[in-house]
Amino acid sequence: MKPQRWRAADGTRLTLRPMLKSDAPLVKESLGKLSSESRRNRFFSAIREFSDETVHRLTHFDTATEFALVVVHAEKGKEIPFAGGRFVDCGDGRRCEFSLLIGDAWQGQRIGHRILRTLIREAVRRGLCQMEGQVLADNRAMLKLARAHGFMVDNNSEEAGVKLVTLDLPSPQPRIWPRLFRKMLRFGRK
Ligand SMILES: CC(C)(COP(=O)(O)OP(=O)(O)OC[C@H]1O[C@@H](n2cnc3c(N)ncnc32)[C@H](O)[C@@H]1OP(=O)(O)O)[C@@H](O)C(=O)NCCC(=O)NCCS
Repeated sequence: MKPQRWRAADGTRLTLRPMLKSDAPLVKESLGKLSSESRRNRFFSAIREFSDETVHRLTHFDTATEFALVVVHAEKGKEIPFAGGRFVDCGDGRRCEFSLLIGDAWQGQRIGHRILRTLIREAVRRGLCQMEGQVLADNRAMLKLARAHGFMVDNNSEEAGVKLVTLDLPSPQPRIWPRLFRKMLRFGRK
């Protein structure tokens, strides 16, 4: 995927790009700054400290079955990750499970919308059929965001206090136009 660049409302330059293994130390730092509410909403428990092992699991993954993005801004020559999203293949090659996490100071700036849209696009490109997510029942922002992207919210999830959100993904579109366009360009050069 190509990196996406834009400016936040305060003018900060932001970049959305795939997560790299080398992001691990700064990802750990950002996780350490999360409020207990964000920790609970993302990990379903108010994790006190993120161990190196946890951070390693989040940053060193198999790219064939997992996809992870980060949003970064530049500070003193470093790319500081402050938001991200990922999906993991459920193992059947059809379904994947997503999660999102936006740093507290950056919430409510439509970054969640952007990440979720990009995750959906990548899952479609990989030919996956369904995306699902577990959301705490009182996480109104995430439920609203999921609904806005067409997810169905299952109010009868087995686990108390958790809702399952699911989205049927369309089949990937054959990339006929770029191919046709390249052919036309070659033809024009003859
Ligand atoms: C939930 C989360 C991903 C949303 O991302 P975000 O960038 O903050 O949200 P966005 O700015 O894209 O807005 C999403 C929608 O939620 C709404 N919203 C934001 N905060 C809200 C709140 N406290 N209550 C209700 N709705 C809220 C926004 O108005 C927006 O709706 P709109 O599209 O109609 O304007 C983010 O807040 C977050 O990471 N929270 C902590 C971790 C978490 O909950 N992860 C989800 C587990 S899968």
